Amino acid sequence: MIVKHTIWQARNENDTVRLARSLAGWASAETLLALDGELGAGKTRFSQAFAEALGVQTVVNSPTFTIIKEYQGERLPFYHMDVYRLSMAEADELGLDDYFYGDGVTIVEWASLIEPLLPPERLEMRILHAADGGRRIELTGRGARYADWCAQLEEMGAENA
Ligand SMILES: Nc1ncnc2c1ncn2[C@@H]1O[C@H](COP(=O)(O)OP(=O)(O)OP(=O)(O)O)[C@@H](O)[C@H]1O
Ligand SMILES: [Mg+2]
Repeated sequence: MIVKHTIWQARNENDTVRLARSLAGWASAETLLALDGELGAGKTRFSQAFAEALGVQTVVNSPTFTIIKEYQGERLPFYHMDVYRLSMAEADELGLDDYFYGDGVTIVEWASLIEPLLPPERLEMRILHAADGGRRIELTGRGARYADWCAQLEEMGAENA
């Protein structure tokens, strides 16, 4: 499988929003964004910007206690998950494939905790605090489609540098 890495420097929230808008524009059914990063890194903030770009009209907040929230975007359903509190066994029983291979786009916060349950083709995003107070977002596109997204983001980032 083709795998491509790139880095998106988000000096401020607006840079995170720009990334979310691009990805939302490319998303389709079965798109999977697998997010990781420590508490407060910005996983939920990114998800909110992504939902807004999809045209979700309701407020998107942290699904930590509900595990999975479903929203309706203008052209796609949006499934927002936070698996921080789940064991692998619990996650396995949720039947997540119904979401991953369903009609919508899925974001999983703390995705690496359930790595064996994730489809092999996905966009991984690790959000790290940067020294300047911004965020360093390390992206790994697994599969041709997501690898191509990484290549496009790299061009956008270079233009913006
Ligand atoms: N460049 C940036 N990108 C995203 N968030 C940022 C950025 N700069 C500052 N922030 C702030 O960082 C905070 C990130 O909180 P958020 O709830 O999104 O983190 P999280 O990774 O989802 O944490 P948790 O693991 O607790 O769910 C928000 O208050 C947001 O406003
Ligand atoms: Mg969160």
